[in-house]
Amino acid sequence: MTRTNLGHLAIALLYVIAATGVATQAQTAPQTPALLLGTAWYPEQWPESRWDIDLALMQQAGIHMVRVGEFAWSRMEPSEGQYDLDWLDRAITTAAKHGIVAVIGTPSAAPPVWLTQKYPETLRSLQDGRKDQHGNRQQFNFANPKYRALARAIAEQLANRFGHNPNVVGWQIDNEYAEVSFDAETKAQFQEWLKQHYGTLDNLNASWTTAYWSETYFDWNQVPIQVGYGNPGLLLSWMRFVSDTWRSYQRNQLEVIRANADPRQFITTNMMGWFDGYDHYTVVQDLDLAAWDDYVGQGHLDPVRNGAAHDLTRGFKGKNFWVMETQPGGVNWADINNWLDRGEVHAMAWHDVGHGADTVSYWQWRSALNGQEQYHGTLVGPDGTPDPLYPEIAQIGQEFAKASAALAGTSVRSQVAILHSYDSRWAIDWQKHNKNYDPVKEILSYYGPLHAVAQSVDIVPPSASLSQYKLVVAPGLNVLTEEDAKNLIQYVNNGGHLVLGQRSAMKDAHNGLWPQRQPGPLTELLGGRVEQYYALGEPAPIEGKWGTGESPLWAELLSAKDPDVEVLMRYNRSNGWLDGQPAAITRKVGKGRITYIGAWLDPKTMNQAAVWMTNVSGVKPALGSVAEGVEVNPRYGANGVVYVLVNFATSPQTVKLPSVMQDVLNGGSVQSVRLLQYGVAVVATTK
Ligand code: GAL
Repeated sequence: MTRTNLGHLAIALLYVIAATGVATQAQTAPQTPALLLGTAWYPEQWPESRWDIDLALMQQAGIHMVRVGEFAWSRMEPSEGQYDLDWLDRAITTAAKHGIVAVIGTPSAAPPVWLTQKYPETLRSLQDGRKDQHGNRQQFNFANPKYRALARAIAEQLANRFGHNPNVVGWQIDNEYAEVSFDAETKAQFQEWLKQHYGTLDNLNASWTTAYWSETYFDWNQVPIQVGYGNPGLLLSWMRFVSDTWRSYQRNQLEVIRANADPRQFITTNMMGWFDGYDHYTVVQDLDLAAWDDYVGQGHLDPVRNGAAHDLTRGFKGKNFWVMETQPGGVNWADINNWLDRGEVHAMAWHDVGHGADTVSYWQWRSALNGQEQYHGTLVGPDGTPDPLYPEIAQIGQEFAKASAALAGTSVRSQVAILHSYDSRWAIDWQKHNKNYDPVKEILSYYGPLHAVAQSVDIVPPSASLSQYKLVVAPGLNVLTEEDAKNLIQYVNNGGHLVLGQRSAMKDAHNGLWPQRQPGPLTELLGGRVEQYYALGEPAPIEGKWGTGESPLWAELLSAKDPDVEVLMRYNRSNGWLDGQPAAITRKVGKGRITYIGAWLDPKTMNQAAVWMTNVSGVKPALGSVAEGVEVNPRYGANGVVYVLVNFATSPQTVKLPSVMQDVLNGGSVQSVRLLQYGVAVVATTK
């Protein structure tokens, strides 16, 4: 085709676009506040005559977003190929009249009964061979081609219909990926995956050391699926296959949405914090935005565990994220479904924002009159009138409106990173060695004190670019691939401070032991190594630069080979082997530094360790020191810094600010703030 022809074609296309419905693209999407308050709304469960009343109540509470559709497949496609999306269109239009935009969830987490009845192969197989059945959700087989075709078709219908709808801001694919299938076809796909990844059986056999227990494979179709207990290489491969399969499951729908939707509509899925059923770094790659469902369940908000889960989610895309679901007071699935205290939901919302959430959305608006979750917390009761929590939600709505301008365009920036890897968590969980050893708790034992000192911590994978960090801490980085080791060595050589926590760098990319002992390929850089590890029944006393304390669960006996290695902590009298031996060592390498901590430090000692780590690395607290129990989180923007402060101490606390700041929620300027329990302050530097 000539250039002129191409020009004509382009002009002709413009006419076609202008003359057809695609012109709706030109309709501008409504302006939504930078901080969005939202809720999960299920219009399909209610008569249409009710919608307006519900939406008016939402509007009154400052809610600007509803997530809709994610379980409504039987309503969208009551029989195969017969689509009915008019009701959803009307629901979205009605919401828009109340200043509420929509996120559409694709309904693939809840297939209709006609589907699984007609195509029984789309039901997942449990490990014992039984098929899952209709009546709950997530009963589908994530690897099944027929299921994928049907899920893609409904996603395409939705995208065709709503991809240019100005009131639709984004898409959620499926809902909380979790349940996998153990059917023969999935197993065959796994074996094919192994072939792709290992190339030859010799390579697989060598990488997994299958000479052990006569595990050698002579044909790909002999490789079984093992979960939880088995050859560590096989276990890890299965989880990597599961992660890739969720990614392709997601991509199957994502492709048809991308092809039919405006680029301004984001695509996400709702993840689950510390859930480790797949490698989130794999699955998140194709998404525009990370989102997660933040539930406390039993008890009360643990700001350390929850804050770290936010930071983990923020680390998936390296930018602000959404809290797609969170509990309006209580849930229905814990052992004791206690309600969060008055003020706690409000504190939690601001804690979310401080850690980088741009949206906080409650699950759910109103309980379905029947169905499995009748007891779950809601914002309005079965009678459709506000619950006691509603005014607290409305307060959040008002405050989000006030703070939106200050927080628009701001994001979290940290000087400290914690390295996190699913491979390592799985590897430790499969061989805990001490039943009380929880790799997430290990991460949190570092995260809590480090966040308290630095007031901001990123959680990123070991493959991340690390040059922006002054301090990188790797607790329990049990599996360390050769490339990731290179990344860490480069970081130290470029002047960074790398701290390895106990159980680090023991395994290679196949979950096999590194022959050098720990820390494997980092041993030379460290100038020392782990001579022996001990699971502890009795705590081992420790002493040194960080005071006197104990290691309750685990002790690694370290040796310092190079003369420039400094011993930071030693074990006191313990099992004889450990007595007097190094428990933590450090070595300066040019402008950089590498430290290894072999003991599980008790909280007091860890506080001191965190102070040392940050001092020696030049990390400064973002705001300056604050009273204990007050959590500070900074968000940085072109106009300065916004600090979100939340008091989790039971007593009132006063925080003196380092300079006069703008009081974002109350107006005016302040130089100190007083916070009751669960009290919140949002203060900003003024330019
Ligand atoms: C989530 C799920 C929601 C709802 C909620 C109840 O895991 O995505 O649909 O079931 O739990 O807490």
